[in-house]
Formats: sequence, C-alpha cells, structure tokens
Amino acid sequence: MASNHPGTTGLMGWIDSRLAVTNAIRAHLTEYYAPKNFNFWYFFGSLALLVLVNQILTGIWLTMSYKPSAAEAFASVEYIMRDVEYGWLIRYMHSTGASAFFIVVYLHMFRGLMYGSYKQPRELIWIFGVLIFLALMAEAFMGYLLPWGQMSYWGAQVIISLFGAIPGIGPDLSLWIRGDYVVSDATLNRFFSLHVIALPLVILGLVVAHILALHEVGSNNPDGVEIKKFKDADGKPLDGIPFHPYYTVKDLVGVAVFLIFFCAIIFFAPEMGGYFLEHPNFDPADPLKTPPHIAPVWYFTPYYAILRAVPDKLLGVMAMGGAIVVMFFLPWLDRSPVKSIRYRGPLSKAALAAFVVAFIILGYLGALAPSPGRTLLSQVCSVVYFAFFLLMPIYTSIDSTKPVPERVTSK
Ligand code: HEM
Repeated sequence: MASNHPGTTGLMGWIDSRLAVTNAIRAHLTEYYAPKNFNFWYFFGSLALLVLVNQILTGIWLTMSYKPSAAEAFASVEYIMRDVEYGWLIRYMHSTGASAFFIVVYLHMFRGLMYGSYKQPRELIWIFGVLIFLALMAEAFMGYLLPWGQMSYWGAQVIISLFGAIPGIGPDLSLWIRGDYVVSDATLNRFFSLHVIALPLVILGLVVAHILALHEVGSNNPDGVEIKKFKDADGKPLDGIPFHPYYTVKDLVGVAVFLIFFCAIIFFAPEMGGYFLEHPNFDPADPLKTPPHIAPVWYFTPYYAILRAVPDKLLGVMAMGGAIVVMFFLPWLDRSPVKSIRYRGPLSKAALAAFVVAFIILGYLGALAPSPGRTLLSQVCSVVYFAFFLLMPIYTSIDSTKPVPERVTSK
C-alpha cells in the first residue's frame, strides 16, 4: 500500500498509511505557524505541560510506595522520605511541582488577560483553560489530604464542611463527599482514587482539547493582531514561523531557566518557609486536636480570603465559587475593540493593575489569621476582584484605544 503521505517511504511510509503520524507532526509542529513576536509571557504554556508531565511521572513513582490508609499513610510518606532510594527527591519534585504548577498557570492566565487571548475567536481555548484550572484545584486539594498530616486532615475538614452550607442538600452532600461523618479512612481512599487516576485523566483530556482548540484558530500574540490575515503565495502567514524548530528551541531556554529555579527550591528550600509544605503537616493527623490556625496552601489563599471576607457562610461559599465561575464569562464581558493591553486605554490598564494587586493582597491575607482590619481589607480586595469582571463591559466600552498595527511589531 502506498503511503498516505507522499513525502514518506519505508517504515514511516508504512506507519503513515495506517496512522497519519507525519501529517499530525506537520499540522501541530513543523507547519503550525505561530506568530513571530512571542515574548517572555509565552513560555508558560509549554512550562505548564512540563510540570504536568513531572507531576504524572513523580506521582506514579510515589504511588509505588505510598499506602492510602489512615493507619499507614503518614508513615508511608516518611518511609518514602527516608528509606526509598531517591524517595525524598521524587516527593519534593511532586510537592514543589504542585506549587510550580500554580505559579506557571497563574502567569499563563495573566498573559491571557494582558493580551486579550480569551477574545473571539479564542473563547473555547479560554473556557477549556478555566475548566483545567478548576480540575487542577480539585486535584491539588485531594492530593493534600494524602500525607495525612494535621493540615491535610483539618484543611479537608474545613473545606468539605463548607458544602454543608448549601441549603437543603448541604449536610447530605458533605456526608457523601467524606463517606463518613468526619474525614476518615473512607475519605482518604476516595481522594486517593480521584487524585491518582480520575482527575489526571480529566486534566489530560482538557489539555488536549485546549491545545486542539488553540491550533484550530492559531495563537494570539503580544500585539493581539491576527496573523492569518496576511499570507504569502503558499498560504503561510507572513508574520508566522514554524513552531518547530523555532519555538521548540526557544521553549527549551525557558525550560532551562525554569529548571534552575525548580531545582534550587527542591534542593535548598523544599518547604519554602511553610508555604509549599506547611509546618503542621509534619505532625500526623489527629482528629482530636485542631491546629490553632488552619490555612490552605498559598495557591488557594486568594479564594479562601474571599470566602472569609463574607460574614455569612453560604454567601461566602457562593462568593468563592463565583470568583472562579465569573472567569468563564470573560470573553463576553470584554467589549474592547482591541485585544492587547498595548493598544488599550488607561481604564483597562488601571483595572488590570488593580485586579492583580487585589489578588496578591487576598493571597497574603488568606494565609493569615483573621482580624477586623484584615477582614475589612479582604472585603475591599474582593470588591476589586469582582469589579474587574463585572464592570468590564462598561470600562472596556468607554475606554480609549490606540491604533492597532496591521502586522505584528518586533518589540
Ligand atoms: C495544565 C494547564 C495548562 C496547560 C498545560 C496549558 C497549555 C497551553 C499551551 C501549550 C498553550 C500554547 C502556548 C502558549 O500560548 O503559552 C496555551 C495557550 C493558551 N492557554 Fe493554556 N494551558 C493550561 C492552563 C490554562 C488556563 C488555566 C488558562 C486560562 C484560564 C489557559 C488559557 C490559555 C489561552 C487563552 C491560550 C492562548 C494564548 C494566546 O494565544 O495568546 N490555559 N496553553
């Protein structure tokens, strides 16, 4: 049988006539034309992929020695740290990887906000992104229960009990999630199953959909202009360059720099002063002893601060959920005629800056014990957070814009 792909012969030709591998490589790598003006902010998509692979591989190896039972979990993690060959490295790669995932993903999302990458025709890329973000939060939350330390236990207790605030079904729902009246062996078992197989499958599927949607419409860029508008005689975008080899090589530089930071943390500060691995989690879970101050890991703290900013439990839960759900609507909330922040006016720039500052302050406050002053500040920041989204139709409509160039600039 002749190869389906005219360019390939031999073994590759044999494979291509049965499975279009060469076609896929061309469509997604060597003939996928990406804008030539990608900058620093475009490193984080490929870095997110790298961290995803790291989490899956180190997770597989951790699972080989971890015991998902309330009686053995804590000791099995200590066994991994002390007795398993390079167990400490695998564990720190996984725990540091969890924080790295959120750092990379937050920066990746910020890039999307800055360059209007969620706007038409990239709405689906963004929606898949928000779904990934949700799945990632669930994945991290369930993973944190597994070492069965004090914070694992009490963090899960606090968060699961929040579902109890939902009218009518709340108490039954939290009972159903826990599988018991308190966080117990049953909870640990189901979280293990969800963390190790169910959610990783969901995340992988979503990432594939995210990238297929991206390759359908093509990448945005720091100028926010569509490179498909101007093509040469062969139909190739004039401002595009093949993803491979140009961006594979560029991304490798990002990977090298990332690994320097990643390794420095793993080898010199794996606990990161209690931010990546919280100190109370070095004590085994004790259902009879509540830690004096329960705070989630840093990547959840902005949302935890929003929850605590609202005095009513149910409204707090709704605000916390709403803070994420509102992101789905972003493509339709933004009415600006331009995508990139470079060509937007002062209102959009100020709104994005205020949003970032509010998000960081919320993250800081969420890690601290509440006080009346801190609660007031988190209320102000929560209002700024929601105003960024909900007032967007107004400020993006009335904001001034600068003329957008027809073609990408080389800045
Ligand atoms: C596991 C997590 C994720 C992975 C592996 C991932 C991967 C990628 C990759 C490889 C790209 C292309 C390279 C780049 O533009 O940087 C990309 C683009 C994009 N991602 Fe993600 N992503 C993830 C999460 C998210 C999240 C949480 C969001 C937003 C909520 C998001 C929104 C976007 C958008 C809007 C683009 C297009 C950007 C543009 O063309 O300017 N992604 N993603």
